[in-house]
Amino acid sequence: MATGDGTVTRRRFGKWAAAGVATAAVESVTGCGSFGRSEQDEKKLQLENASGLDVTGANSLGAHAAARGLLYGAAVDPELLDVDGIAVEHTNDPYTQLFAEQTRILVAENAMKWYALRPAPDRFDFSNADRMIRFAQLTGKVVRGHNLCWHEGLPGWFAKTVNKDNARQFLTEHIRTVAGHFRGQVQSWDVVNEAIWLEDGRPDGLRVQPWLEMIGPDYIELAFRTAAEADPHAKLTYNDYGIETDKPGEAAKRAQVLALLKRLKASGVPVGAMGVQSHLYAAGAQPGAGLREFLSEVSALGLEVYITEMDVVSAGIGGGQAGRDRATAKVYGDYASLMLADPNVKMLLTWGLSSGLSWVNNPNQRMQRFPDIWRERPLPFDDDDAPTDAFWALRGALDGAPVRAKQG
Ligand code: XIL
Repeated sequence: MATGDGTVTRRRFGKWAAAGVATAAVESVTGCGSFGRSEQDEKKLQLENASGLDVTGANSLGAHAAARGLLYGAAVDPELLDVDGIAVEHTNDPYTQLFAEQTRILVAENAMKWYALRPAPDRFDFSNADRMIRFAQLTGKVVRGHNLCWHEGLPGWFAKTVNKDNARQFLTEHIRTVAGHFRGQVQSWDVVNEAIWLEDGRPDGLRVQPWLEMIGPDYIELAFRTAAEADPHAKLTYNDYGIETDKPGEAAKRAQVLALLKRLKASGVPVGAMGVQSHLYAAGAQPGAGLREFLSEVSALGLEVYITEMDVVSAGIGGGQAGRDRATAKVYGDYASLMLADPNVKMLLTWGLSSGLSWVNNPNQRMQRFPDIWRERPLPFDDDDAPTDAFWALRGALDGAPVRAKQG
């Protein structure tokens, strides 16, 4: 991977793209929009999966989403895409095929972050990000930008170079250059990422981090206004996590996110969308009434809502792999159904497509927080690019979503 932090395995695709079989039978258990399969249906589905169902083309997540006027997509590592193969309409690369088949919108998992775009204070390198743009152009996909202002993903030189005197200059120059470079190519930008962190104890809930310390709370407004000038057509998004369930900490954080959005709107800041990251856990409290209320409050502010980084960790769930897969799939089905019931939720992106490359399975990242470390299956495809239970649950939830006007 770009960060050199994971073992990349290339896997076989093919078998799940076998000639269409028994698709109608699958529709009958997934088309209802919920994940309430009987044991009998479950067994039947397992057999059908084992026989190699076609989940490409009209059966893909992207196509099922598009049928409801929704965009489905995923985070991608552009370095792994066989763009040359796509350009001549022939690639045998499984990763590239999976993204080409399943998604209608792409976001760079890391390739548009500061450290990836800015190897030195005075040098930008767009080569990887441009690969993704080219792939999207060749395959007719929409692109999201992620992200312009965050406390993580900063280059090694940042701390030594950026200070109170030049921070405004660095932030605005970065946003002008990056959003300017991709002007007209991205549907939306995560302009500010993860700015709320209650543990820091500020009344406004803002995270105490370099941008806040060097510029003050107005760094958020500055970032949005600069982005609007650089690319007036992109929907400018505030993106955050840990705001999905009604656990007290998440409910409180959600309230501070809403308060921030209200302050921005009241000051005429050009914020256009709210990104709900949606890194979820199968064990414990699940999203519910508080999130629904949040969606209507955000809509009332005139903002669109995007599910930007969905994945599900199943640590703490019993029943072996089958039990964990079932629990993960239930979260996919229930969560997507809850969110997509609101017509203002316009898209759903998962944070990757197949488990093998998920950050969740990187021992240096999310999994270090879990004592019962094992190989997670947090995404719609497994290590062999075969659809997991989560695929069917998500596709069923897409089918159950109210139809909206076409996106992108
Ligand atoms: C993660 C990537 O998945 C990792 O590969 C990287 O090493 C760290 O960042 N919220 C975000 C994303 O907004 O940018 C993060 O992506 C996951 C959490």
